[in-house]
Amino acid sequence: MKYYFATFLLTWNSLFPVDLNNLCIPDSSSEIYEKIEVLPYFCQGWNTYEHIFDPLLAENKFKTVIEVGVFLGKWTTYVAKQLPPGSKFFAIDRWESTEELRRSVDNDWLTNMYHQFLSNMIHSGLTDIVIPVKMDSLEAAKKFKELNIKADLIYIDAAHDFVSVYRDLNAWFPMLAENGMFCGDDWHWGGVQTAVKGFAEKKGFKIFIDGNFWKLKTNTSQ
Ligand SMILES: C[S@@+](CC[C@H](N)C(=O)[O-])C[C@H]1O[C@@H](n2cnc3c(N)ncnc32)[C@H](O)[C@@H]1O
Repeated sequence: MKYYFATFLLTWNSLFPVDLNNLCIPDSSSEIYEKIEVLPYFCQGWNTYEHIFDPLLAENKFKTVIEVGVFLGKWTTYVAKQLPPGSKFFAIDRWESTEELRRSVDNDWLTNMYHQFLSNMIHSGLTDIVIPVKMDSLEAAKKFKELNIKADLIYIDAAHDFVSVYRDLNAWFPMLAENGMFCGDDWHWGGVQTAVKGFAEKKGFKIFIDGNFWKLKTNTSQ
């Protein structure tokens, strides 16, 4: 009985997270975390690029961060833990299983991604900084534009096919603050590379690459 009740609560919570229900970006993230039964910490993920971000984070270069494509929050945790007090980290994800994810990771990891992500943020003590935005990337970008939210660091790591990446680049670039960094993971995926190259060419920007990490060299960027 207890199990069914917990499952009902979790399903309810993941179907109607506070932000999506009201279609607005919450100022404080804490209420989103309050209702969940915390799962044990489990935070698989991909590259964090410490050699690139450690020096910038040490200099407090970033106060508002947007990550597009978050999964269980490995990169989120690494970055958010080093942000100065009062910072905001917007974590944008649908947290729904996709064909691409099913091809890349263990199926067990996909059953309760959002619940696991929220639990990981609670374990990491990041609930005051990390604001989960459970929305489609393009829908969220529209909302951020309306609210005129700007970020010092935007990390693009959602779907990796050309069309999705190209749309994400166009949708999220307007949210970059002056002197901000616009970057992402998985340069070695064909779709990512073609999209980033096409976007950079259109804007007249150069691209910096380090392994799978890419960043746009805008006129004012980090
Ligand atoms: C590669 S994972 C992100 C990894 C994470 N950045 C890390 O370093 O651990 C890609 C994530 O993008 C999300 N995603 C894919 N397409 C999306 C979309 N259109 N809108 C929102 N999230 C999306 C998936 O749910 C998945 O969690």
